[in-house]
Amino acid sequence: MNSKRIYLLIIASFLFCGTTMFSATPNDSIKSQTPAEILPLGKTLYENSCVRCHKLKEPGNYTQEQWPGIMDKMQKRSRITDEQKATILTYLLSEAKKDVKTVE
Ligand code: HEC
Repeated sequence: MNSKRIYLLIIASFLFCGTTMFSATPNDSIKSQTPAEILPLGKTLYENSCVRCHKLKEPGNYTQEQWPGIMDKMQKRSRITDEQKATILTYLLSEAKKDVKTVE
């Protein structure tokens, strides 16, 4: 019982440190944690799937908070698979506008 608690505490503090690191450099942490081939693939998919109706939007014009909701809407419009959506989203998040509020 007791050791389980300590274990959870360790996990919790690990997660806490992790989040702090994330918010300090959100874009860099995505870049360092994503397999190397994913970001270029996401970029290509983005450039191919998202120009049909409007010009490509700058990834850096939107924050990491905004992109997931936008991608939900745009996935339906561009008829991409969930996997393609996730790959594009990873690319967009790695280039997203840095939200100054999350850096503390
Ligand atoms: C079938 C047409 C179509 C396709 C394909 C499409 N979009 Fe859009 N997109 C629109 C329209 C129409 C709007 C403006 C209306 C709106 O915001 O709902 C828009 C708006 C946007 C905006 C601005 C949203 C805002 O709230 O300011 C972004 C960013 C965007 N699209 C990204 C994408 C991405 C990323 C893709 C590829 C996954 C994509 N779009 C594919 C039609 C499309």
